[in-house]
Amino acid sequence: MTRATSAAQDVIENLLPLAMDRDRFIDFVSAPTAVIIRGNRRAIESVLTNLIDNALRAEPRGGTVVTQVHLDGVVEVIDHGAGVAESDREKIFEAFWRKDETTSGAGLGLAIAKEIIDAHGGRIWVEDTPGGGATFKLWFPAAASETHAKLNDERSLSRTSARS
Ligand SMILES: Nc1ncnc2c1ncn2[C@@H]1O[C@H](COP(=O)(O)OP(=O)(O)OP(=O)(O)O)[C@@H](O)[C@H]1O
Ligand SMILES: [Mg+2]
Repeated sequence: MTRATSAAQDVIENLLPLAMDRDRFIDFVSAPTAVIIRGNRRAIESVLTNLIDNALRAEPRGGTVVTQVHLDGVVEVIDHGAGVAESDREKIFEAFWRKDETTSGAGLGLAIAKEIIDAHGGRIWVEDTPGGGATFKLWFPAAASETHAKLNDERSLSRTSARS
């Protein structure tokens, strides 16, 4: 069981220096309450790290990558770069596939992400960002009844802010 909201927050905190080096920003939009998903925290963090790293490379200089956690267990990583062509949307999850062979990565991040998500019974896919860019979406099975129990707990403890 993982708190998707705090896992995303930790990953973003770790990547902020990289974003600053690259002259890009990262914005975190959290669901109004903790979102608890069925999955291993380290695995989910490594998937998010690769998605945000990719997005920071795609994002134009001075732009903002947005990471959003929704109450239904969907996590989005939104950039405003070149986007992913319709014809590449399956291939992009194959090992060693890179659109441009001159880029530095191994082309493994998304293949590993897909393995991890499949192992959790979740889904990963890519869409267009409205106005241009790529939006990667992850969906993890919510922790069903535990989610509600925990959410109710958290509601009575405190209300977290919608943005941080
Ligand atoms: N947000 C994105 N926008 C546009 N293209 C992308 C985006 N994310 C990934 N890609 C394309 O998909 C390819 C594969 O991504 P993947 O994360 O699997 O590998 P990588 O980033 O090249 O290397 P690695 O993650 O192993 O360091 C990238 O090389 C890039 O061409
Ligand atoms: Mg990558």
